[in-house]
Amino acid sequence: MVGALLLLPLCAALAHALRVPRMPLAQKVAPPYLVPVDRNGTELPPLDTVYYFDQLIDHNNPSLGTFQQRYWQTWEYYEPGGPIIITTPGEQDADGFEGFLTNATIDGLIAQQQGGATIVLEHRYYGLSNPYNNLSVASLQYHTIQQAIDDFDYFAYNVELAMPGGDHVTPNEAPWVLIGGSYAGALTSFTKVNKPDLFWAAWASSGVVESIVNYWGYFDIIRKHMPQNCSSDVQAVIGYIDDVFTSGNIQEINSIKTTFGMNLSHLDDFVSALSYPIFYWQDLQPSPELTDLSFFEFCDALEVKDGVNAPTEGWGLDYALQAWGSWWENDFLPSACEGQTIEECLGSYDANATYYTDISVNNADRSWMWIVCNYMGFFQDGAPAGNPTIVSRLIEPIYTERQCTYYFPEAFSSPPTPQVTWMNWEYEGWNVQSDRLFFGNGQRDPWRDATVSADNTSFPSTAWQEIEVGDGFHCSEMYTVNGQVDPTIAKVQEEGLAAMKGWLETWTPPSQ
Ligand SMILES: *[C@@H]1O[C@H](CO)[C@@H](O)[C@H](O)[C@H]1NC(C)=O
Ligand SMILES: *[C@@H]1O[C@H](CO)[C@@H](O)[C@H](O)[C@H]1NC(C)=O
Ligand SMILES: *[C@@H]1O[C@H](CO)[C@@H](O)[C@H](O)[C@H]1NC(C)=O
Ligand SMILES: *[C@@H]1O[C@H](CO)[C@@H](O)[C@H](O)[C@H]1NC(C)=O
Ligand SMILES: *[C@@H]1O[C@H](CO)[C@@H](O)[C@H](O)[C@H]1NC(C)=O
Ligand SMILES: *[C@@H]1O[C@H](CO)[C@@H](O)[C@H](O)[C@H]1NC(C)=O
Ligand SMILES: *[C@@H]1O[C@H](CO)[C@@H](O)[C@H](O)[C@H]1NC(C)=O
Repeated sequence: MVGALLLLPLCAALAHALRVPRMPLAQKVAPPYLVPVDRNGTELPPLDTVYYFDQLIDHNNPSLGTFQQRYWQTWEYYEPGGPIIITTPGEQDADGFEGFLTNATIDGLIAQQQGGATIVLEHRYYGLSNPYNNLSVASLQYHTIQQAIDDFDYFAYNVELAMPGGDHVTPNEAPWVLIGGSYAGALTSFTKVNKPDLFWAAWASSGVVESIVNYWGYFDIIRKHMPQNCSSDVQAVIGYIDDVFTSGNIQEINSIKTTFGMNLSHLDDFVSALSYPIFYWQDLQPSPELTDLSFFEFCDALEVKDGVNAPTEGWGLDYALQAWGSWWENDFLPSACEGQTIEECLGSYDANATYYTDISVNNADRSWMWIVCNYMGFFQDGAPAGNPTIVSRLIEPIYTERQCTYYFPEAFSSPPTPQVTWMNWEYEGWNVQSDRLFFGNGQRDPWRDATVSADNTSFPSTAWQEIEVGDGFHCSEMYTVNGQVDPTIAKVQEEGLAAMKGWLETWTPPSQ
């Protein structure tokens, strides 16, 4: 029986975790687990056993030495000759991701089908896998996507796995399979592009392959899939607030601040805060075991009046504005900002605030900000004029780019534009052309517009680079239980498992 530990931040951490652009991270599937036994019935080390690999700090300059990179592994399903299946949870502490060793996830389902062994590798600069004991700008110099790709290579060719024969399973001796969800899904695609011979096959779930500075598609997908009464009313309220905030009418501006009980000095902070409940959409999953329904609590606050649901077009601006304001002041703010002033909790303009200056390790927000500010963007903004929007158009890339200068003043003397053009050229973004690469995506995933299944695109699914889309949310097909409740997700899982089977049958060692 596998329980779920959601990454929904607890109330105390809510404001901080929400302040940074929401990370496209995959979810934990956590203990309790049974003690694993191998195919011969021999008891194996507990799944939470931590192993350490001496990883190069700089793949361009090995003389800089090594750091300890954490990994977890099991060989419950392994049969000699089987594939080595590896994943990284990407931009987060990998502790607690043992579910990615078992058949609670697609990794274990592949291992079970193919007689494979499973590994979870912590990504450099997250959790306790750090080249240096702080996250200063100087220390972050080796926090690049290319170094993370090179980590896979050096790991695969040099690790001695604890399992029987584990010192003879390099990619020259056994097929390796890379799996990743979300950012790690993008990393999976990038790795196939950059090192075509390292992994024989790969599975990218909700892989955000295309780096995009103004990622307004995030909210556009939510707008289309959320209850339409709630969508209509949120659009009406946000449209009204944008009109007032750009009018310069101080009296009306103050009246809106009073309605929400939120007196922030910067109007972009005000409208940014209003987007926070919309981010709850990312915590939805088809399986009741994995989902968090906070998003619908927000919609209910707007749409249920005296026990009656609003019709499709909503209740309209007047009621929605008052209902949102009252829920905000009485429910949301007291729990989200407990023990803090509104400015401390929701303002973004204090460059001396701890969340900008804290350089201690295992601070995933900071490590992820380094990647988005430099490379990937993904700033979750309001839609451009001419498109309907559920988030204020006052939220534009500069809102986050300014914060990049507070996090990393030694790196950015002015707001940076992330190098997305270079990224999409170097790692091919949407135009990836690879062999034996499977993409699984979800219709309702707010990250879908950065995947090969983005709206307004039509990248072909082929026998060697298959694309399957189910009705899921973010990374839904990675979790076995989601396939048990949604046949469209079961189909993505089955297609992916069949692709892996066919591709692994054709394995030959890479030419050397
Ligand atoms: C299981 O036993 C067989 C026969 O003794 C042996 O060849 C194989 O390596 C064992 N498998 C594992 C995973 O230990
Ligand atoms: C997962 O593995 C367990 C044994 O560890 C087995 O009992 C169960 O049926 C498997 N589940 C799936 C979905 O294959
Ligand atoms: C960060 O760590 C490096 C390497 O250990 C050290 O030289 C440097 O002084 C540290 N920087 C700060 C600001 O603590
Ligand atoms: C998709 O195309 C429509 C119609 O041209 C356009 O209005 C919309 O902005 C596009 N959506 C995205 C996410 O680019
Ligand atoms: C917000 O705070 C400022 C500064 O303290 C104050 O001048 C203003 O009247 C307040 N506005 C509202 C609506 O409470
Ligand atoms: C209207 O809102 C209610 C309450 O949030 C929701 O249960 C219902 O599905 C919505 N109906 C439509 C048509 O959007
Ligand atoms: C931050 O702190 C420094 C010195 O500690 C001070 O000079 C600076 O004015 C402060 N900046 C802000 C925005 O408060």
